[in-house]
Amino acid sequence: MKRKLLGTLLSVTMAVSLLAGCGSNGGSTPAANNNAGGNDAAPANTEAAAEPAAPAEAEAPAATAGGSKIGISMPTQSLERWNRDGAYLNDQFKAAGYETILTFSDNDSGRQVNDIQNMLADGVDLLIVAAIDGEALNTAMNEAADANVPVISYDRLILNDAVSYYVSFDNYTVGKLQGEFIVDQLDLENAGDSVYNLEITAGDPADNNAGYFYHGAIDVLNPYIESGTLNVVSDQIDFDTVATAQWNTDTALERAQNILSSYYADGTQLDVWLCSNDSTALGVAQAITSDYAGSNSVLITGQDGDEANLKNIVDGIQTMTVYKNVSNEAVVTLSLAQAIINGDTVDASLTDSFDIDCAYDTESYETSAGNKCPSFLLVPNVITKDNLQDLVDTGLYTMGEDGYLSATN
Ligand code: GAL
Repeated sequence: MKRKLLGTLLSVTMAVSLLAGCGSNGGSTPAANNNAGGNDAAPANTEAAAEPAAPAEAEAPAATAGGSKIGISMPTQSLERWNRDGAYLNDQFKAAGYETILTFSDNDSGRQVNDIQNMLADGVDLLIVAAIDGEALNTAMNEAADANVPVISYDRLILNDAVSYYVSFDNYTVGKLQGEFIVDQLDLENAGDSVYNLEITAGDPADNNAGYFYHGAIDVLNPYIESGTLNVVSDQIDFDTVATAQWNTDTALERAQNILSSYYADGTQLDVWLCSNDSTALGVAQAITSDYAGSNSVLITGQDGDEANLKNIVDGIQTMTVYKNVSNEAVVTLSLAQAIINGDTVDASLTDSFDIDCAYDTESYETSAGNKCPSFLLVPNVITKDNLQDLVDTGLYTMGEDGYLSATN
């Protein structure tokens, strides 16, 4: 009752603050909409799908959906993780009693604008958007603001002030974990006069996350590059040179093949290839398997826990992946969406409503210069051959008799 009353009281004033987006409400006065608390016939919330498996347990969200409709816009089905994100979000919101519309936009920004416009025309009460291009959604975002529809920027930040909140992992830490892993594995602190050869593959420049991953890793590795302990033989270091449009596996593969034939065909040893994520690591690993002349195993980093990459980890072809539990990312998003729709205050206390390692951060991300976007940032983990069981323990993967992992959704 208390929640409903609050939601009703806030719904008028919140519509005004919503228009100002990320920059002005600082996270203390979230947007609400007129459907909040307007329907007593909330569906039963008995589905286990709302609860992620151990070890990250979230409390089952209250059944306060009240007939609200949620638009979930994912970038593409061609990159594995977004299929999982889409499924977890869709399942969890439905289990909590919401009506959902789920779209994938085939990595085409124009199509994503259309998909979001269609959702707005369908009368969604809240949007969850993982942007293909963080700077290409202005038309759709402005229409969302005009319609008083709150927007949760999911995983990738949209650079538009119509965004109400951001839910993601700590993106800089993802890169930092990759860099630290390389430093530890090669024992760079005690390298003496040894020199290790490194190549770098980063993500999509249109994705706001890609720079964070790259800089998180490079900030750790730079002292060793500057001292000469790490040698980027191709000399391809800066972000724009090593970036991979749309995180495409074939693009990463082709660039890796070019580097191997141009710089390593003479027998030069390659020691490590920093890859920002699994889809690019897959291409790089393929190039190394087919085109690398050396016989040493090359340390390859990744991110996501895609099935093909986990198989490569088991087979010793990829060395690590930074795992992000996207089921938990969906749980956080659901809790946040419920608070917004109910007109509850959104601040750090929201993190008490789920048992997930997640920071409330009002400083790190901006949707435009000076406009801070209140963010909920989950914690990523390093997965190697030695702790694959941790993934199985989440309940989100099973291990076959062959030792390979399969995702359960
Ligand atoms: C990023 C995301 C990563 C990775 C990549 C390619 O935005 O944070 O987890 O999946 O996109 O899809």
